[in-house]
Parts: sequence; structure tokens; C-alpha cells
Amino acid sequence: MRSRVLSGMRPTGALHLGHYHGALKNWVRLQDEHECFYFVADWHALTTHYESREVIEKTVFDMVIDWVAAGLDPAKSTIFIQSRLPEHAELFTLLAMGTPLGWLERVPTYKDQIDKLKDKDLATYGFLGYPLLQAADILIYKATYVPVGEDQASHVELTREVARRFNHLYGRHPEFEALALAAVAKLGNDDARYFDKQRKAFGETGSADALAKGEAILRKAAVSVSGWTPNDTELLNGHLRGSGKTVLVEPQALHTEVAKLPGLDGGKMSKSYGNTIAMREEPAQVEVKIRRMPTDPQRVRRTDPGDPARCPVWQFHQVYSDADTKEQVVRGCTTAGIGCLECKQPVIDAILREQQPWRERAADLVADPQRVRTIVDEGTERARSVARQTMGDVREAMGLAY
Ligand code: TRP
Ligand code: SF4
Repeated sequence: MRSRVLSGMRPTGALHLGHYHGALKNWVRLQDEHECFYFVADWHALTTHYESREVIEKTVFDMVIDWVAAGLDPAKSTIFIQSRLPEHAELFTLLAMGTPLGWLERVPTYKDQIDKLKDKDLATYGFLGYPLLQAADILIYKATYVPVGEDQASHVELTREVARRFNHLYGRHPEFEALALAAVAKLGNDDARYFDKQRKAFGETGSADALAKGEAILRKAAVSVSGWTPNDTELLNGHLRGSGKTVLVEPQALHTEVAKLPGLDGGKMSKSYGNTIAMREEPAQVEVKIRRMPTDPQRVRRTDPGDPARCPVWQFHQVYSDADTKEQVVRGCTTAGIGCLECKQPVIDAILREQQPWRERAADLVADPQRVRTIVDEGTERARSVARQTMGDVREAMGLAY
């Protein structure tokens, strides 16, 4: 079975080249290797933008257009909108019951973002719960891989802990304990005592050695205890680990090495810093923005040699230029052989070339809003059938399947 990939993006404004190079390009690549689910995280956008509904409302479909324009293929990838699937909210609520407050308060992005976004009041219940909502997004699809930036690594880690805790609390058959004890008894006095000792040690210290010793007893039982069944092995494997059945699957973060595209000023490209180039930026604007880009501050006159290491344009070359061009830039810059405008021209050309197919595909989609709606409707229904299934398992595990 192909592994499932899941990721989301917050609709807080037009997508820019930073989104493309940092995430979207990778999403497009992954759709050929995995079963991919990509969604518009509109509830997540509300955690920080609860006072600006227009932004979100306007951006949701624009974002889907940008995704498809950049190469996400609705026939390969499942594209949907978070708020169309109340199942995410249900799982979030159920997970919230047993999630320690400290786990959320300790997530590094929590304090960081409160400090960074000072103009917004983020001392809200929703913002604290942000990573848990993200955990619900991921766990509801039993995703194997979650492509996210480094800044989100702690959210995936929290997701893993939440899944582990859920399985520990609820992943048991009602009679699990009794069945496990009966199976332990089958081991015979000595091995039963030894097995329990290892189980306790593993539970208290997480010792790999104790786990291995416990497993060895089960392997031995499989060949030497009469009446031993594979079911006994499965049962005691769960018992040994202190977990029962795996209801929720622990995902893995997928950090892909990408050449980072900074903003026009060399900092992180972000709308709030006003240093972006939108994916569908007008060609004339692209040209103006690149021509106005700051360069090596020590290269004051055309005749001063510069150092690409001090220049944000050089970072654009890293993303956009081939080896030859880069060599010419280094030589031309350090010897004052080329001027900065000349140096910028290949970057302008490369960005315009990159954007051309996006512009064409986006224009088709803008002209046919119904097609965009259909893409989202179909994706949403595909996602719903998976989400429903998981919620069935979750309700049953929690004793809510009345
Ligand atoms: N928090 C993510 C971001 O800001 C967006 C997101 C929400 C997400 N839910 C997710 C990403 C689930 C991956 C998986 O970029
Ligand atoms: Fe930057 Fe190019 Fe100018 Fe050198 S020549 S300072 S790399 S823009």
C-alpha cells in the first residue's frame, strides 16, 4: 500500500514564491509517489485572524487555484477544505479531553508567535489549541508522512505523543486486561513472573533491553507452550508495551532539503514583512520588485567589488540559476565586472519563466469558478470517507458508539 501524505496551508493571503519553493513544489512532487491529501486549513487561519474574516473568505479558493496552477493534479491529490469536515472538530474535542495543558503550553511556536505577533491578541483558547487541532487533522487520515517546515516539527512531535496516549488510554478491548492476564498465565510461573518484570521495567524506564527480553519470552512461548495462539502473542505484545490496539497512527514529519528562497530584503519571505513576490504577481511588478531589491550594502558604486555572500540577490540565484550563471555572478560581482542590474536580469527572467505556466492555468481556473468548486467538492467527499472511518474507530474505542 502506498503511504499516505497529509499537509495543510493556512489561507491568510495570496501565495507567494516562498510558499512555492518552501512547500508547494514538494507537494507536487510527492503526489507521484504517495497518496496525497492537501487541505486548506481555514480554521487554523482563524486562530490568528479571527478578526479578519474577509481575508480568509477571499483567500480559500484563490489558494486552491494557486495549488492547481502550480501543478497539484486533482486526479492524483485529494484537495479539500478543513471546515467542510466537522469530523476534524470532533476528533479535536475528543483528544482535548485527555491532553495535558502543559503539552500545549510547552510547544515552542506558542510563545514565539505570541511574542512575534504583538499586534494580535493570541491569549486565546483557540490559539493554545492550535497544535492539537493540527494533530486531529493528521490523525484523522492516519497519515504516514507530514511534509512541513522545520518550524512545525514540534507540532508533528506533539501529534505522535497524542496518538500514543490515545492508544494507551483507549486502544484496548474492554476485556483486554483479563485476556492479557490469562495469556500471561499460560506462560507458566517462571516465565510469567519474568515477563511481568520486563513489562514493568519497560513501562517505567522505556528500557529497550526489557522490551527485547519480553519479546524473547513470547517467541519462546510460540514454539514451546501448548495451546499458544498468534492472538496470545499479539495480545501480550500490546500488554508488554503498555499499549493496546493501534487506533491512531503515529505520523512522521517529512522535512525536505530545499534551497530556501528568502524575501526581497533577505529576511524570511512573508506577507507581514512586505517582502514577497506573489505566485501570480504581474510581470511588470516582478521586474520592478527585483530591480529595487537591496544588494551587498558594501557595494556602493558600480566600480566597488562586492561579495555575493552579503547579497540577497545571490540567494535568488541559488534557487533560480544554473552553475554557469552562478559562476558569472561570483566572478562579475567580486571583480566589479558586472553591475547589479545586470546581475539581476537572469533572476527576473527565471521567475517570469517559472510563473508563465501558473499564470495560464490560473487564468483558466479563474474563468471557470465551477471547476474549482468541483475539485474541492470531490476532494472533500474523498477525505470524508476516510475521516468517517477513523471517527467510527475512535468513537468505538472511547465507548461512544451507542
Ligand atoms: N500549521 C500548519 C502551518 O502553519 C498548517 C497546518 C494545519 C498543517 N494543519 C496541518 C500542516 C496538518 C500539516 C498537517 O503551516
Ligand atoms: Fe548582489 Fe549581484 Fe550586485 Fe553582487 S553583483 S552585489 S551578487 S546583485
